[in-house]
Amino acid sequence: MSVDWGHVFASRVGGMTASEIRELLKLIDRPEIISFAGGIPDPDFFPTSALARAYEKIFQSNGGAGGALQYSITEGFTPLREWICAYMERNGVPVGLDSVLVTNGSQQVLEFVGKLLIGPGDKVVVTRPTYLGALQAFSPYEPSYLSIPMDEEGPELSALDAALAQKPKFFYLVPDFQNPNGTTVSLARREAILDRCAAAGVPVVEDTAYSELRYDGESLPLMAALDCARNGGKLTNVIYCGTFSKTMVPALRVGWVNAAPEVINRLVLMKQAADLHASTINQIVLHDVVSQIFDSHIKHLRSQYKERRDAMLAALDEFAPPGVTWTKPEGGMFVWVEAPETVNGTALLERAIKEANVAFVPGSAFHADRSGQNTLRLSFSVNKPERVREGVRRLCALLKESI
Ligand SMILES: Cc1ncc(COP(=O)(O)O)c(C=O)c1O
Repeated sequence: MSVDWGHVFASRVGGMTASEIRELLKLIDRPEIISFAGGIPDPDFFPTSALARAYEKIFQSNGGAGGALQYSITEGFTPLREWICAYMERNGVPVGLDSVLVTNGSQQVLEFVGKLLIGPGDKVVVTRPTYLGALQAFSPYEPSYLSIPMDEEGPELSALDAALAQKPKFFYLVPDFQNPNGTTVSLARREAILDRCAAAGVPVVEDTAYSELRYDGESLPLMAALDCARNGGKLTNVIYCGTFSKTMVPALRVGWVNAAPEVINRLVLMKQAADLHASTINQIVLHDVVSQIFDSHIKHLRSQYKERRDAMLAALDEFAPPGVTWTKPEGGMFVWVEAPETVNGTALLERAIKEANVAFVPGSAFHADRSGQNTLRLSFSVNKPERVREGVRRLCALLKESI
């Protein structure tokens, strides 16, 4: 007798399937492929010597490495949490240490938010499109999604009103340079979302993975800052997700969450149960590095990624066939392309990999309802400007044939 695993798995894992797109993207690990698929930072920009010095310092200090290699408190390395508090204060969110938990990347915050807030059948509001990883984090808790469309200012308010009337548990939103479509929510729309969510008693989960990567236009206040401004300096209705993955390096897996202390207390218990704490040594190293180079490093990243963003937009202007439209992001890593309805993004990807050595992510992956078949997410982050141009040229030639 052997175990029938399908029978033993909990019902909630039924929806966790490998996607056809992920299978296709396994094929792109070849040097001749120009990949616009991964929403990842360029390793050429990693602050490797600052990191190396910080690790060396730990191992060369007399007996000091012991602490860095030891278990530590669940809330996170205190000097790093203090740095985060000062950073948040600069950004209009004057939270205390009791409002900060360091996590293994912001992906872990999303997983914990799902665990904390979603029961089977609960409604969760997301934008259409939204970050695929958020759907993956929430879905095992068996929500039903209310996907609201976006216009040029952000989520449509009439759709948000209709969603809030259904008493959802929270609204998940990436207000700056959203993954996947690169759009930014206007200030007026941020205020209107907070008004409506506060009136309905629905928290906003604000994911700021790309917020620091602004290449032009005015910085807008964080939803968390607007929330604090309305509530006497206290973070009340917003759960803020932060990460060092796009600004420093993803491999250290350090992110954080800011929220009201009663929320953080619950999340700390979850973190304890999940993995006790984020890596002690990585938190110490990151604290050392961000204390020295955060601002100058961000400045460098902005100038480098801006060139690539500009190259992608210019190439689309030059090569895109009629009927194709795209977003013009002021920051982040993504341009979102909308082709005529007759184009199927997944079929196009298959051809693009085989015939043109170019890759992207079909936009349907970012729709809770699997719509958006004719959309594509292009990331400009890991290719130099001339390679970005060549990749867009090849993709547009294929698009022209497919329309
Ligand atoms: C919008 C968004 N949120 C969260 C994450 C997770 O990042 P990390 O867990 O590395 O902090 C990503 C990663 O791509 C992202 O695009």
